[in-house]
Amino acid sequence: MRGLFVTGTDTGAGKTVVAVALIAAVAEAGEPVRAHKPAVTGLDEPRGRWPPDHELLATVSGLSPEQVAPLRYGPAVSPQLAAELAGEHVEPEALERAARAAGEQGLVIVEGAGGLLSPLARDYTVCDLAVALGLPVLIAARPGLGTINHSLLTLLAARAAGLQVLAVVMTPWPSEPSEPSDLEASNREAIARMGGVEVAGLPAVAGPDPSALARAGRALPWHRWLETAVG
Ligand SMILES: Nc1ncnc2c1ncn2[C@@H]1O[C@H](COP(=O)(O)OP(=O)(O)O)[C@@H](O)[C@H]1O
Ligand SMILES: [Mg+2]
Repeated sequence: MRGLFVTGTDTGAGKTVVAVALIAAVAEAGEPVRAHKPAVTGLDEPRGRWPPDHELLATVSGLSPEQVAPLRYGPAVSPQLAAELAGEHVEPEALERAARAAGEQGLVIVEGAGGLLSPLARDYTVCDLAVALGLPVLIAARPGLGTINHSLLTLLAARAAGLQVLAVVMTPWPSEPSEPSDLEASNREAIARMGGVEVAGLPAVAGPDPSALARAGRALPWHRWLETAVG
């Protein structure tokens, strides 16, 4: 299986924006790439400026939202609880099968749900899925206050599970004409040094427009990351 697994320090940390910017940049460069989201929740919530994850991932990868996310739930709770509330039982094997099927066609970018230790099924976390798939990991992180602790904890958990972490991706990372604040610049440097990890920055994107996403994605060293993207 060839791909990357995008996790984050938390829900709302920027996983989807990182994943879609990457996919848009890769697709723009002419490489076929698919998106996979094991489960999406919160579809009952009012729509905001950004469409739900599976719709956005579908737009940039040329799939249908249903192909991107086989499991879809209304309540804004963890996938495991959402399935339980819907009277469904999710087997880890089914999650792994669906992700592998998405990767059968070629390069796949998988977006986790919540943070690395969020449950996808009973006693089965996002981390367990990433390990089962054997994909290298990107960690989406906020640039501001609190991110050092969250990023280093996620890094520690990922490495303890045997995952290869390619980079922490700070998003949105201030770029021309704005500049990172002293706090943001110091956070980035601290995570790189204390975590012994590459830290990349994804520029701000105005909205869910594929060409704007591709432009931001070009700022990421995805060519290099894809060289190690064999799970
Ligand atoms: N590069 C970026 N440009 C613009 N907005 C961003 C960027 N990164 C994160 N955001 C903001 O953060 C919010 C949460 O990001 P999202 O990718 O949906 O998080 P997650 O998938 O981890 O839940 C987005 O809706 C957007 O408002
Ligand atoms: Mg998301």
